[in-house]
Amino acid sequence: MSKDLISHKANSFGESIIRGMTRVATATKAVNLAQGAPDFPTDERIKQAAIEAIQRNINQYAITWGAKSLRDAIAAKEKRFRGRDLDPGKEITVCCGATEAMMSTLLAVINPGDEAIVFEPFYENYGPDSILSGAIPRYVKLHPPANDQEDWYYDEHELAAAFNDRTKVIIINTPNNPTGKVFRQKEMEFIAQLCQKWNVLAVTDEIYEHIIYDGEKHVTMANLPGMKDRTITINGASKTFTVTGWRIGYIIAPENLTVAIRKVHDYLTIGAAAPLQEAIAFAMGLPDDFFQHLSKDYQRKRDLLLAGVREAGFKAYKPWGAYYLVSPIPEAGFKNDYDYSIHLAEKGHVATVPMNSFTLEHTSIGMIRFCFGKKDETLLAGIEKLKAYRAVKV
Ligand SMILES: Cc1ncc(COP(=O)(O)O)c(C=O)c1O
Repeated sequence: MSKDLISHKANSFGESIIRGMTRVATATKAVNLAQGAPDFPTDERIKQAAIEAIQRNINQYAITWGAKSLRDAIAAKEKRFRGRDLDPGKEITVCCGATEAMMSTLLAVINPGDEAIVFEPFYENYGPDSILSGAIPRYVKLHPPANDQEDWYYDEHELAAAFNDRTKVIIINTPNNPTGKVFRQKEMEFIAQLCQKWNVLAVTDEIYEHIIYDGEKHVTMANLPGMKDRTITINGASKTFTVTGWRIGYIIAPENLTVAIRKVHDYLTIGAAAPLQEAIAFAMGLPDDFFQHLSKDYQRKRDLLLAGVREAGFKAYKPWGAYYLVSPIPEAGFKNDYDYSIHLAEKGHVATVPMNSFTLEHTSIGMIRFCFGKKDETLLAGIEKLKAYRAVKV
């Protein structure tokens, strides 16, 4: 009897192109400006806190929805930076990264036929997340800026037209991967109004909240009038504390939603690594200057790479947050974004991520993404390679 041994869901998406480009970087010995994984060390104090937690014998399962110390630290940090008053007993769930946080959230709220609005280009995982949770994605385009004073933007009419009776959630990632867009107050207010009009949940991926430039302010959807009860905040330690391999993330949601999310989370993963939760609880209490330094340092790296890639002949849009920059492909004759990225890794020895990994059905938009969450020497090596490659080309 012939039987399909692979699920339709698993068959309906491919492997991650982002993670794949890291393999390409290794194979082609290219400078890796692809995946968003920093190549510089984690703060000594945070590493020490993890070592001490293991030595204090915190090595068994933590409470499934997160160690009390970490939930308390998250609540305190939200109070400090966002002015939010949270109940760590009822509104916070610790997960295995923001990745699991998004999946557990969608599995907890989506019913068959529900629609999820996603801005495109979108963080690669949101596509498979929608399929796995059973949501029907509806994509709304982010358009590139005209100059360095502007940012990527959505068209209000296009966004309003995407809402309907079947819309269950809108996923907002700010600061944004891949575009570097920071959603401004007015944009968030417009989204908030639509959420209230159509009884929709806002799921906000805020993993880059502390990586924001040029004095821009991170806007917290949950703080807007009428949004506390319909916002699910996704966040994590990976980017703020340079611990992408630790897999610590969290969800902040109203109590009724948290009850549902915690059940899904428990059966998916039981819980995140117990000693690492303790270390992140410590990290969250670091003084303000740790967080200020993070933005300052990444802004310096942004300026370095932006100037460098432009000197090499890439147009590159200025990012306002997160640690990526997007550039139109400066050469013609390539079948798609992916082929250009492979070509650039093989011939230019710089690995990037093709922007078609962030679009519906991997449709090419003639752009690539560089990551500047890297050591200065890595960025300088990448810039040199790009200049050498383009000098040959031009
Ligand atoms: C927007 C966004 N969300 C989530 C993640 C993954 O976060 P985590 O490492 O906490 O799973 C990333 C990683 O690049 C990201 O860019």
